[in-house]
Amino acid sequence: MRLNDKVAIITGAANGIGEAAAKKFVAEGAKVIVADFDEAGAKVAEELGDAARFFKVNVGDEKNAQELAQFAIDQFGTIDILVNNAGITRDAMLQKMTGDQFDQVINVNLKGVFNCTQAVYPTLKEKKSGRIINTSSVSGIYGNVGQTNYAASKAAVVGMTKTWAKEFGRNGVTVNAVAPGFIKTAMVAAMPEKIIEQMEKTISLQSLGNAEDIANAYAFLASDEAKYITGHVLHVDGGIMM
Ligand code: CAA
Ligand code: NAI
Repeated sequence: MRLNDKVAIITGAANGIGEAAAKKFVAEGAKVIVADFDEAGAKVAEELGDAARFFKVNVGDEKNAQELAQFAIDQFGTIDILVNNAGITRDAMLQKMTGDQFDQVINVNLKGVFNCTQAVYPTLKEKKSGRIINTSSVSGIYGNVGQTNYAASKAAVVGMTKTWAKEFGRNGVTVNAVAPGFIKTAMVAAMPEKIIEQMEKTISLQSLGNAEDIANAYAFLASDEAKYITGHVLHVDGGIMM
């Protein structure tokens, strides 16, 4: 098992990709904090048994992120891995996008990653080892119609990933991002059907991905197999827009 006895915090783990990641990490031997705003995370943790705990968190709240890190230490004694997976969309064409829609997405997808990393890094620095995995998106790399706020937040995640890879490398901590394409979760289910169909045709592998495809990439980057990889953005998108 590749993550034996590692302690991982996975944000947004109540649903979708994060839930698949929590299951994968536990199957690989890790202890997992299922961190989510949605209390459905309690059930996810319960099903995973003794290796998992739920913590209700709003990653956009700085104090809450600090409490999350402390909870992981209180429950499992340390932190080895942070997966910054929580994210939201508030799609609209630019002319219709409200300031509030812009701010909400930036607060969760960008500030949330900042908050959780700032809360967890001191523990990793002290241990001189650790893994931080951020979640970008195909939208942050290539842009996407209706996603000014979201694309900006996900492009910014790439910038933070590379910055932290440079800052944290001297302390044995790697920082990478996964950029998923279109994955079958609630987030994509909210898209108009017509646009999903159009999108599918632009994917080399001709289908949407599964949450497990991204969970596998997170697990690889969290494992010792990836110990010499840092500052990388791993595209897991079925070959979209190369
Ligand atoms: N790609 C290409 N064209 C798109 C598009 C997209 N993603 N989204 C909208 N369009 C086109 C529409 O087909 C439409 O074209 P026509 O005028 O030729 O019909 C035009 O843009 C305007 O769209 P709407 O008529 O739907 O305008 P609206 O104001 O009612 O709604 C919208 C706008 C909210 C952006 C809606 O179109 C929408 O939800 N689009 C999907 C946006 C999207 O791709 N979101 C990804 C969500 S999944 C995710 O975010 C995960 C990830 O990381 C990839
Ligand atoms: P999802 O909507 O199924 O799950 C997102 C989870 O994040 C939910 O459980 C939600 O409660 C949680 N969350 C939202 N705001 C939060 C907050 N403030 N604090 C704590 N938790 C919060 O979405 P999905 O698809 O599983 O997305 C996971 C990540 O992958 C997101 O960062 C998303 O942007 C990214 N992504 C998803 C893609 C897709 O096609 N589904 C494509 C590219 C990236």
